[in-house]
Amino acid sequence: MRLHVADHPLVTHKLSVLRNRDTPAVTFRALVEELVTLLAYEATRNVHVTPVDIQTPVAATTGVTLADPKPLVVPILRAGLGMLEGMVKLVPSAEVGFLGMVRNEETLQPTTYAERLPEDLSNRQCFVLDPMLATGGSLSAAIEFLFQRGAVDVTAICILAAPEGIAAVERLTEGRDVTLVLGAVDDHLNEHGYIVPGLGDAGDRLYGLV
Ligand code: URA
Repeated sequence: MRLHVADHPLVTHKLSVLRNRDTPAVTFRALVEELVTLLAYEATRNVHVTPVDIQTPVAATTGVTLADPKPLVVPILRAGLGMLEGMVKLVPSAEVGFLGMVRNEETLQPTTYAERLPEDLSNRQCFVLDPMLATGGSLSAAIEFLFQRGAVDVTAICILAAPEGIAAVERLTEGRDVTLVLGAVDDHLNEHGYIVPGLGDAGDRLYGLV
């Protein structure tokens, strides 16, 4: 597993505003989008490209275009949905699939309640969006799901992570080509499975209490 933790003052600044419990949902949503765009820049560093010929106004040259099949972006519902705009802004030609996962708040075990993905992910690079890497259970299950369908490599973008979650993803996806791109690594998980200091429940802060 490859691990990249953002080390940039703009990321830390935006994260500090996100963490503040007084930040309203409208600001929270806008900042998540901006943060994801910054993280997506790093996450797509190894995206597959193919050469193209170009004629500039001055001369013939060569460049690159994103290779086929295009990258697949997979937000994990519900909170990952808040990250989608920030990602597709940077990679507009990406396709988007959806995975709905929920964790049982007592056992902290993930279950899949919705899935809308291509059957065949052969040769696909996949980018999973999940803001909070807490226990790592649902993210690992989502990553494994994509590999089962044939994905070649999977990069997960998370805004915050707990060390326990990173270790779990490393253990549960061993032998797979997995990259984690994180805004920050926090201190620990509390007894309720929340990241400390964290930012609270990302889904609730994006979409209100349901
Ligand atoms: N999910 C969240 O939204 N927040 C946490 O701190 C942990 C999991």
